[in-house]
Amino acid sequence: MLILGIESSCDETSIAIVEDGKNVLSNVIATQIEIHKKYGGVVPEIASRHHIEDISYVLQEALEKANKKITDIDYIAVTNKPGLIGSLLVGIMFAKGLSFRYNIPLIPVNHLEGHIYSTFLHQDVKMPATVVVASGGHTSIYNMSENHELNLLGETQDDAIGEAYDKVARMVGLSYPGGPSIEKNSVGGENTLNIPIPNVSGYDLSFSGIKTFVTNYINKCNMKNEEYRINDICKSFEIAAVENLKRKIVKACLDTNSKTLAIAGGVSANKHLRNELYTSLELKDVEIKFPIKMEYCTDNGAMIAAAAYYNLEYKSDIEKTFDATSTKEF
Ligand code: KG4
Ligand code: ZN
Repeated sequence: MLILGIESSCDETSIAIVEDGKNVLSNVIATQIEIHKKYGGVVPEIASRHHIEDISYVLQEALEKANKKITDIDYIAVTNKPGLIGSLLVGIMFAKGLSFRYNIPLIPVNHLEGHIYSTFLHQDVKMPATVVVASGGHTSIYNMSENHELNLLGETQDDAIGEAYDKVARMVGLSYPGGPSIEKNSVGGENTLNIPIPNVSGYDLSFSGIKTFVTNYINKCNMKNEEYRINDICKSFEIAAVENLKRKIVKACLDTNSKTLAIAGGVSANKHLRNELYTSLELKDVEIKFPIKMEYCTDNGAMIAAAAYYNLEYKSDIEKTFDATSTKEF
């Protein structure tokens, strides 16, 4: 089965062709990072305009790379929520147009589910699994059962982990997106701030305290006219943010007897996070799966196609007609 996956919820226009939910035949991503960098974050109106400019070229390239014609496609999958409404609408209307013109059925995909299924591309995930989305908009921990039912165990009560990375980067003058900038600048830094790990009950998380600790530290240095080392701030922040997430992930895996830990979203590209989970003794009996390629960590069409494939297999109530304001939850 060939599924064309369309993703345009934020600042990446991406279209992929995926066979049987696993084999990525093409995954074309037109990123707008350089455009939004100068504003320090994504400007929604500008993002929508660039999606409109790019999307038909992205489709053409995705078909060419996969050596397929649009008429070879069995289903079109498109992110319908959550995301920037103007950006989502570009992908949705484009998908609807294709679906209408070529009579190909359409499947709406929740962006978070897309991230979760990015860990299923080119690899097997054994159930039950603890699945984690760690991105710029979300930090959520789920349990996935044998029949792919998702049960939310906990989520951030304030900032998402990627959002905290982005905000701290901006504070110290590093470029957007903050995750890769902080990762790079933590090299050679020391954990001099020793930021306390928030104490939140259950599987819920909080990142705003870690971020505020950094703000207060910088303000204190400025008041005292003392210089601070950006590398130390990056290192200290990264250690605290990752440890915070790791503790909840470990608890979820052990409490639910998970066979697999699957972790996705932009922050899953982070080397320190990967290393901490791979070397955790508490997780020694749990198979750890990250997206197999870095390009599947951040927003991409392949994950949307994969999610649609598994939704077709496991969900009985797939919507065939919908719009960006659909209230259907997964
Ligand atoms: O999944 P994604 O592309 O978009 C959302 O759905 O939010 O995630 C983007 C987020 C940004 O906050 C970015 O700073 C973060 O992922 N990110 C990283 C890394 N690469 C991207 N955070 C930490 N380390 C990285 N290497
Ligand atoms: Zn995303």
